[in-house]
Amino acid sequence: MTDDVSVANFTRINYFPTMVYQYDVKDKVDLNNNLLELTYAERDRDRVGVNKSNTAELGSWHSATNLHKNVDYQSILAHIDAALAKISAELGYAKDHALKVTTMWSIINPPGNGNRAHVHPNSLWSGVYYIQAPAGAGNIEFIDPRTVLIMNQPKFIAKKKRPRDCWTKVNYTPTAGRMILFPAWLYHGVDTNMSKESGRAGDRVIISFNVNQTRI
Ligand SMILES: [Fe+2]
Repeated sequence: MTDDVSVANFTRINYFPTMVYQYDVKDKVDLNNNLLELTYAERDRDRVGVNKSNTAELGSWHSATNLHKNVDYQSILAHIDAALAKISAELGYAKDHALKVTTMWSIINPPGNGNRAHVHPNSLWSGVYYIQAPAGAGNIEFIDPRTVLIMNQPKFIAKKKRPRDCWTKVNYTPTAGRMILFPAWLYHGVDTNMSKESGRAGDRVIISFNVNQTRI
């Protein structure tokens, strides 16, 4: 008889979480106006840019990856450093090391452009900061890194949102002034920009960066 079976002492503990941080920058208007000008000026200066996960053949532009060395970007770097210090403190990272930006770049995705799924090799953390994100600009999608799960999947209740602990992907809608920080090994891609705005107002404009620990 199962009537006598009690599950009162049944517990669950989650191990090995995939940590994604979010940081909303206050007073973002001047910062974003300045970054927007800098980004378009950089594109004018370096029309070719580099070809990474962006869809260059459709008009997506990706800058060179050394923007963190340019003094014009120190204001956004200060915000990134503040977020990284919080991560180091929260996760108990060695106090004689600091998380520092090792590469930083900007991307302009006009309508019709996205970014193929990818990871960021040779880094601990990566991040994105949204400078401009019109409605429909394209979500960033993170994909469950536990790839062995594709071997078998449970059936879930139809048309009911799964518990968050059972998701296999998660989407963030880009919001100007928001920074998302994520493990560099976490696969992610960016949906096609479907903005209906015309001209530059329809562009999805971001700064992205990679991070490693350095001794201080
Ligand atoms: Fe990326």
